[in-house]
Amino acid sequence: MQPGDGEMLAAAYERNRQHLAPWDPERDDRFFTPEWQESHVAASLVESDAGRSARFVLIRDDHAIVGLVNLNNIVRGAFWSADLGYWIDREHAGRGSMTRAVAAVREHAASVLQLHRLQAATLLHNAASQRVLAANGFERIGIAPKYLRIAGEWQDHVLFQRILAA
Ligand SMILES: CC(C)(COP(=O)(O)OP(=O)(O)OC[C@H]1O[C@@H](n2cnc3c(N)ncnc32)[C@H](O)[C@@H]1OP(=O)(O)O)[C@@H](O)C(=O)NCCC(=O)NCCS
Repeated sequence: MQPGDGEMLAAAYERNRQHLAPWDPERDDRFFTPEWQESHVAASLVESDAGRSARFVLIRDDHAIVGLVNLNNIVRGAFWSADLGYWIDREHAGRGSMTRAVAAVREHAASVLQLHRLQAATLLHNAASQRVLAANGFERIGIAPKYLRIAGEWQDHVLFQRILAA
């Protein structure tokens, strides 16, 4: 992610409003504006410079943004862990792209950020996301009740982790 991505991010979120609604927090209309997205990019880059997150955009050949992969809540100390999140444009789903994007970010987390562990959480019925995690060597930890507020409801999630190094 880099300064100036706000406009393409706003367009991508607008195109995928229905597609992402069941899997995302509730968004108000401001979220879909280039201005809001650009200020979020700026805040994300501050977080990234401080070592607390790492955000990646998926771009098409014509340079349009068609997805995101995030490492959030990077904690070091005795943990060296981060939370993984992702989505892809509905028109690009089902081609193995997110499986490969997560593999690339997993590699970055291990070799550049030197993290020990990644965690991901999916809704119980998010089979596609669970396939992406399985293909990337994530193991199921268990169910966390009422873990995240998604689509306006505190919903149970399955937690997964991937240990990056022995
Ligand atoms: C989850 C998501 C990122 C997957 O991206 P993608 O690029 O389509 O993923 P891939 O093509 O790499 O892999 C998808 C896998 O799910 C499987 N799949 C897709 N839809 C499925 C469904 N409804 N039921 C079961 N499996 C499904 C595919 O067959 C594939 O598995 P395979 O590789 O073993 O054949 C995408 O669907 C998305 O953005 N969803 C909305 C947002 C979201 O759920 N984000 C994650 C929140 S935890």
